[in-house]
Amino acid sequence: TGTSSFVVVANRLPVDRVSTADGATSWRRSPGGLVTALAPVMRAYDGAWVGWTGSPDDAPDPFSTDDMDLVAVPMSAEEIALYYEGFSNATLWPLYHDVIVQPEYHREWWDAYRAVNRRFAEAAASVAAENAVVFIQDYQLQLVPQLLRGLRPDLKIGFFLHIPFPPTELFAQLPWRRQILEGLLGADLVGFQRAGAARNFESLAEAFTTAVVRDDALVLEDGREVLARAFPISIQVEEVARLAEDPEVRQRAATIREEVGSPRHILLGVDRLDYTKGIGHRFKAFGELLAEGAITPDEAVLVQVATPSRERVEAYQTLRDDIELQVGRINGDYSRIGHPAVHYLHSSYDRSELVALLLAADVMVVTPLRDGMNLVAKEYVSARSDLRGALVLSEFAGAADELGDGAFLVNPHDIDGVKRTMLTAMRIDPAEAEQRMKLLRDHVTSHDVSRWATEILTALRAI
Ligand code: G6P
Repeated sequence: TGTSSFVVVANRLPVDRVSTADGATSWRRSPGGLVTALAPVMRAYDGAWVGWTGSPDDAPDPFSTDDMDLVAVPMSAEEIALYYEGFSNATLWPLYHDVIVQPEYHREWWDAYRAVNRRFAEAAASVAAENAVVFIQDYQLQLVPQLLRGLRPDLKIGFFLHIPFPPTELFAQLPWRRQILEGLLGADLVGFQRAGAARNFESLAEAFTTAVVRDDALVLEDGREVLARAFPISIQVEEVARLAEDPEVRQRAATIREEVGSPRHILLGVDRLDYTKGIGHRFKAFGELLAEGAITPDEAVLVQVATPSRERVEAYQTLRDDIELQVGRINGDYSRIGHPAVHYLHSSYDRSELVALLLAADVMVVTPLRDGMNLVAKEYVSARSDLRGALVLSEFAGAADELGDGAFLVNPHDIDGVKRTMLTAMRIDPAEAEQRMKLLRDHVTSHDVSRWATEILTALRAI
């Protein structure tokens, strides 16, 4: 038994390694919204965060930041290949995102997933105080709730899935479907992004485990109850809003507009380079608008930030080749010297540069084929206190449940629809843009990630 009354368990630790001048290692808190939202809870309850550093065989002794203790779970290079790149990102990720890419089912990957989940559960069990609250994150760790309950029946256990939870027809493919469901049922509360995902989980638990749904809860054989509910996650609205008011950031936004040159319209995409994001669909729509002369390269430019992600997984390598071929073709056909039609940026940027881009954009184009939430859409809204700009948003992003009134919703598979909507958003009358942005901001500013953290942790404590 440990001393932390609040423990977060996530695949990644919320810190980045920085090497100091003398060659030593130190750690800097990463800019994530989740860690910031949980920081006050961490401070109040001697909190600990259990996670992986991101590097092989890396197990620094527990260390502390201002708000919490950090407990590193070591992983070998082979486990990274089997548990992280394999089962998490080549089995579960594509399966949970509508099988956009064919999931691979390998028994060795499953064995590694179980072993690594057990290691996370043991680490959490050793730092958690008597009757502590443990809050487990995401698809990489779905077995931890049950494993942890086995080790520490005194704990109150919550789980939140940041990505979609698929319908029965897809989930049923998984050779280890019962084990995953039983893993999640180890929690007292299982949180999802959308209400439909919670319903999918309930039906699957009824179909493949002995649990039954009774009065809004899943009842297990031993009488214990598990609650499945939606808690749509959000961002630190204040942090983005503050950056957007910063004179340097505003100056940078103006410079970006100047550097882009003559076009009156900047369309912007900001995504991890992932096949779920519909980046290719967006490019296809933009390319066709140029080909048909509906827009000219002097009128509009598409800026796409594609942050490198999971680069050792084959589907991500193929995606990168496809996307870069598309960019090359569009630019080959429509660019002039000094004026590319598409600005493709394959790198990660710091927060102020991203907010400057959000401020410079006339139309934010968010077209995932499937997305748990999509926080970039909420960041765009948070940055636009000037009430300008328009949001084109896929109906297949969780954010569409909340932002459907102010955004222009699209089906990203309907290329003609995306083209029409891009044009409408570019040519929107400023009064209508303002009205829509007000609707969007009313929702986002009153639903930031701290409210999400309070709601899900209050629901967990109330059990
Ligand atoms: C998604 C997942 C997170 C994950 C992030 C980055 O948002 O829900 O769990 O951390 O992508 O992916 P990575 O594989 O680099 O951790």
